Amino acid sequence: MMILPVFVYGSPVLRKVAAEVPQDYPGLEEFIEDLFETMYHSDGIGLAAPQVGKSLRIFVVDGSPLEEDEPSLIDFKKAFINPEILSYEGEIITYNEGCLSIPDIREDVDRESAVRIRYCDKNFNYREEFYEGIAARIIQHEYDHLEGRLFTDLISPLKKRLLKRKLTSISKGKIDVKYRIKHA
Ligand code: NI
Repeated sequence: MMILPVFVYGSPVLRKVAAEVPQDYPGLEEFIEDLFETMYHSDGIGLAAPQVGKSLRIFVVDGSPLEEDEPSLIDFKKAFINPEILSYEGEIITYNEGCLSIPDIREDVDRESAVRIRYCDKNFNYREEFYEGIAARIIQHEYDHLEGRLFTDLISPLKKRLLKRKLTSISKGKIDVKYRIKHA
């Protein structure tokens, strides 16, 4: 297993629409393990392939660190391959988000409270599931990475202006983080 460097804000790969993963993608199993390993190393609860420089439609999650807030998250640990959000449901709620690609910045983001998602599991079996609460939040955040979207795209223009200098520093790699990063 390998801990991979995390591409940060300003890296072009974070802005691409990621490609579907073919079933025979070489080294898929190892790559998924590397994603988990990299996520754990950087204390994340979700990590998408573009964040390690691979423009592929895969993300991994492990919500168990937030188990105290939501006990069901103890079992929310899996890889989502070629996911498709079938519907956004529930009501709009605000939740404070962060991102390993945007270190040291957290902002309140509005999103739907539930999603229905179809994806392939690591054995390439199709699954369709419904999530709400923090799991739905993590899924929407990670799914956005596959569409080239970042949570800073969803905040108000005023808030974004206030973050501009910090985001510029991040894009130049001028930031102190405990995990290995890569910048454009
Ligand atoms: Ni993120």
